[in-house]
Amino acid sequence: MSAPVNMPQGTVADETRERLERATAALEPPFAVVDLAAYDANAADLAHRALGKPIRLASKSLRCRALTERVLNRRGFRGVLAFTLPEANWLAADPETGIDDVVVGYPTADRAALRRLADDELLARRITLMVDSVEHLAFLREAAHPSATRPLRLCLELDAALRLFGDRVHIGARRSPVRTPAAALSLARAIADTPEFRLVGLMAYESQTAGVGNAPPGAPLRGLAVRAMQHASGAELRERRAEVVAAVRAVADLEFVNGGGTGSVERTAAEPAVTEIAAGSGLYGPALFDAYRAFRPRPAAYFALPVVRRPAPEVATVLGGGWTASGPPGPDRLPLPVFPAGLRFRATEGAGEVQTPLLGDAARRLRIGDRVWFRHAKAGELADHVRTFHLVDGDHVVAEAPTYRGEGHAFL
Ligand SMILES: Cc1ncc(COP(=O)(O)O)c(C=O)c1O
Repeated sequence: MSAPVNMPQGTVADETRERLERATAALEPPFAVVDLAAYDANAADLAHRALGKPIRLASKSLRCRALTERVLNRRGFRGVLAFTLPEANWLAADPETGIDDVVVGYPTADRAALRRLADDELLARRITLMVDSVEHLAFLREAAHPSATRPLRLCLELDAALRLFGDRVHIGARRSPVRTPAAALSLARAIADTPEFRLVGLMAYESQTAGVGNAPPGAPLRGLAVRAMQHASGAELRERRAEVVAAVRAVADLEFVNGGGTGSVERTAAEPAVTEIAAGSGLYGPALFDAYRAFRPRPAAYFALPVVRRPAPEVATVLGGGWTASGPPGPDRLPLPVFPAGLRFRATEGAGEVQTPLLGDAARRLRIGDRVWFRHAKAGELADHVRTFHLVDGDHVVAEAPTYRGEGHAFL
């Protein structure tokens, strides 16, 4: 795997590694760190790219309450895009410290969590559910028994994929079935006609732009093709999203129109119909986000594993390693060994469940007890492997931030 373009190189890489080693000298690997200077710089960069529109934090890409709150306290960020309703209920529950604006970014079929939401005045005021069909509306009514005096807040999701050749090719995530202004209006009317619901938002997530790197290292032709696809998709969505928003606004007072993700912040923010951007991954700056042309998140989240055996002079084996990422399986889902530079996986073993042999020149110099530093391919999934992030400021660990797992939660 070639070195990512935004990784510190040469002496800067040596300095980063030495600084992280100094800061964490007292820790026993495996452990994970977040480098606060990089994290805060990434937050500033996301806000700058959003052209003055607020960013709603995609919590699945952080899975750490303290780090979520650290960014929500900055200008340019407002509200959370949660990934499950139990998570949203947990985030919003405390009247004093709870997050007061949580949109669940994906439909829920969790009956118990829905009952809790509908029965709780505070939660019902703070949380918005995602819907994309009348079938789901019927499910919500049956599961939650909402009342007209405390209606459920709903957000309508629009399909943001690019379709080509008379809809035979679908580029982008398979999410909502609602695609046209007519379909959106029809669902919006069904919601408006139900006093137990209130339509407050519209969301469309263009994964083919926001989550697909358009400058993959070593693949210039692929980069060219991806950028052409993203250009076409951006033009198509800009027009369709504006039409859908206008149609829905005729029957509902929308508080927000949410779009985008880390990879599309500036493009999505430039659409007049969009009022806020969703983003999260750009804060930790995981390896999959090395492949974009318009921006460079700084690597902020790392994990360290100990070398535990040397099967041969050219092989150093670390404990664990198989913290791989979700999505279509492939080499880009593997963690990236970054320090020391020049390590690679064995093709026949990859990143292992309990041990991972690493090859390369640097492996010859590693000794038992040394650490190898990795970056995860994706953002929030790293947090489900550790109970805490050690927060590094300069060359000190200044605090520990419990992950969702550390707080006893496994939402997904
Ligand atoms: C609905 C939605 N919005 C936004 C995002 C973008 O999140 P991130 O910035 O972490 O890529 C995602 C990620 O999957 C998403 O599902």
